[in-house]
Amino acid sequence: MSILNLAVFASGRGSNCAAIHRAITENKLKAKICVIVSNQPDAGVLDFADKNAIPRFYISSENFSSKDEFYKQLFLTLDMHQVQFIVLAGYMKKIGTPLIRKYPNRILNIHPALLPSFGGKGMYGMYVHEAVIKYGAKVSGITIHLVDEEYDHGAIVMQKCLEVSPDDTPESLGKRIQQLEYDTYWQAIQLFAENRVAINNRKVIINNC
Ligand code: GRF
Repeated sequence: MSILNLAVFASGRGSNCAAIHRAITENKLKAKICVIVSNQPDAGVLDFADKNAIPRFYISSENFSSKDEFYKQLFLTLDMHQVQFIVLAGYMKKIGTPLIRKYPNRILNIHPALLPSFGGKGMYGMYVHEAVIKYGAKVSGITIHLVDEEYDHGAIVMQKCLEVSPDDTPESLGKRIQQLEYDTYWQAIQLFAENRVAINNRKVIINNC
């Protein structure tokens, strides 16, 4: 089986990136993180890259005179590292059409709730768990989905749920959700590494082998 070359895009501390990396080092996920990309110069995920000798790349569209220049530079980096697949792990920027076209059905995101509920613009981090609790939902969970032009909208690859307890605070719920993310994200990536994902009419079909 060949190894899937990944780029991980993240804006924050990158604990999901670390969990993916762990799954690789434990030989559970047949992939390689070829480069970590961040739009935040001081993101914790870039320190993680340095500590683990993973190439890292800071790029922000704000530093370019045009979108074309931005994508030119980004694509150069992705090509240089022979990236085949992109994993978003807390990347706080909308993915633009040029990148979606370059990696059709090859960009994955993780959302800390059960989409299509509690998603969309502004629904990230603690805001999600606060909204879940405020609404009185009895279950929450995680959604791993392909990325399209709309926030939290692409075809769903995997979902896992857990119960929301009456005593949950956004923090306690967030902690359990995060653990579920660490345990699950790599499994979804592995499906792509094994070439087991087919997409038909916005529906993801997982082939059993
Ligand atoms: C995760 O909770 C994920 O669901 C969301 O962003 C968060 C990233 O956290 N997309 P971390 O930086 O991986 O700790």
